[in-house]
Amino acid sequence: MRGASFNTAALRAATDLAPPGMVLEVMTLHGIPHFDADVEAAGLPHEVTRLREAIAAADALLVATPEYNWSIPGVLKNALDWASRGGEASPLRGKPAAILGAGGRFGTVRAQTHLREILRHNRVRVVGLPEVLIDSAESRFDAAGHLVDERFRSQIRRLLEALQQEAARH
Ligand SMILES: Cc1cc2nc3c(=O)[nH]c(=O)nc-3n(C[C@H](O)[C@H](O)[C@H](O)COP(=O)(O)O)c2cc1C
Repeated sequence: MRGASFNTAALRAATDLAPPGMVLEVMTLHGIPHFDADVEAAGLPHEVTRLREAIAAADALLVATPEYNWSIPGVLKNALDWASRGGEASPLRGKPAAILGAGGRFGTVRAQTHLREILRHNRVRVVGLPEVLIDSAESRFDAAGHLVDERFRSQIRRLLEALQQEAARH
């Protein structure tokens, strides 16, 4: 959500690192209301429809997550809850995906573990390796939000190649 989010910055870096044939569109989760089954029954809010349609239209997903209290932020969980609705009609079903995260000392490892489980429950086909755990994020990006650490740039490149292969198998 933050304008200066390291995770949004990592997604921007990924748009530059994508292999030939892959185009990334960065989406943030602004404006998505809390899940409420009464709201759902009355008709999906515009931002939820936008999210679900974007997931449905994509050949694959790249999800970037910070770590909040050893897990994913409630904002991301809430968005996944909305996207998960509908059983077989959920746009998450069978979708190839890769995950990464930027944060503090452990590079979001605990958040990514939870995210992997949530996605697996929704039959998302999450790429296993490489793990991209951008630790000490404040030292990996410059003041303008560019990812300047070559090791992580290379990891993201390899992650996207693995995602492309998974999508081709789809
Ligand atoms: C409510 C809250 C809880 C946090 N909990 C953790 C945590 O459990 N582990 C961690 O490494 N960092 C934690 N952080 C620090 C965030 O990972 C750090 O602020 C990160 O830069 C946020 O991601 P962003 O740059 O994409 O906004 C927490 C931050 C907030 C606001």
